[in-house]
Amino acid sequence: MFILRRTVCWVLDIRIIKQGVSILKLTIISGSQRPNSDSSRIGRYISEQEFVSKSYSTINFLDLNELNLPLWNEGFWSNDAQWDVWKEPASIIQQSDAVIVVVPEWGGMVPPILKNFFLLCGPQELGHKPCLIVSISSGRGGSNPINELRSTAYKNNHVCFIPDHLIVRDCKKMFADEDSESSQYLERRLEFSTNLLSEYAKALGSVRESGVADVDEYRYGMS
Ligand SMILES: Cc1cc2nc3c(=O)[nH]c(=O)nc-3n(C[C@H](O)[C@H](O)[C@H](O)COP(=O)(O)O)c2cc1C
Repeated sequence: MFILRRTVCWVLDIRIIKQGVSILKLTIISGSQRPNSDSSRIGRYISEQEFVSKSYSTINFLDLNELNLPLWNEGFWSNDAQWDVWKEPASIIQQSDAVIVVVPEWGGMVPPILKNFFLLCGPQELGHKPCLIVSISSGRGGSNPINELRSTAYKNNHVCFIPDHLIVRDCKKMFADEDSESSQYLERRLEFSTNLLSEYAKALGSVRESGVADVDEYRYGMS
């Protein structure tokens, strides 16, 4: 059974209730800062796929454009009231076992709103959780945001970007009405990558439960 509800304007919480199936939770993040983005459309598309929903008891969708999170400032560390807006998304991510981040290539880079998001996340939110990167470009780009996230975005939050990623080029035509060969290929590749993510989600749960990840002593990664 599918229950679709909007708790507040920024979170689409899709709850798939099935008997005796997975209790894993997935959060999909749209990393664009503009409204009605392709990142948002593709993130929602992924959340609606049967091959994704069968692996999770809960799928949350966070659109960074709608969250209105401030840019990081000192108040974040002193629990300033302006950061109350972070509590609900943080809690959603903390409860997640896996994450998919949809990132558009902007000027050869990751959009600032997504860099800010990874800066806000700590080990409580993302530590030793698997993350699938889905990079998108309306042209022939898309590899730069993957390199950027893989080289920098994990250090202090300890997220685990899984080895496979997706690059959705010519993104306006992909996962849309058009039934092209490229679109069909990406569809199969999406199923492969999301299945892999689910297995990492199961496996990395035991890493977190082992207690080996000492976030007090080794809070920050080396650089
Ligand atoms: C400010 C801006 C910069 C962009 N720069 C690039 C780029 O460097 N390389 C590229 O392949 N596409 C670039 N694009 C195109 C985006 O990849 C494309 O529009 C994508 O659909 C944007 O996703 P969004 O709608 O989720 O923001 C840019 C788009 C914007 C808005």
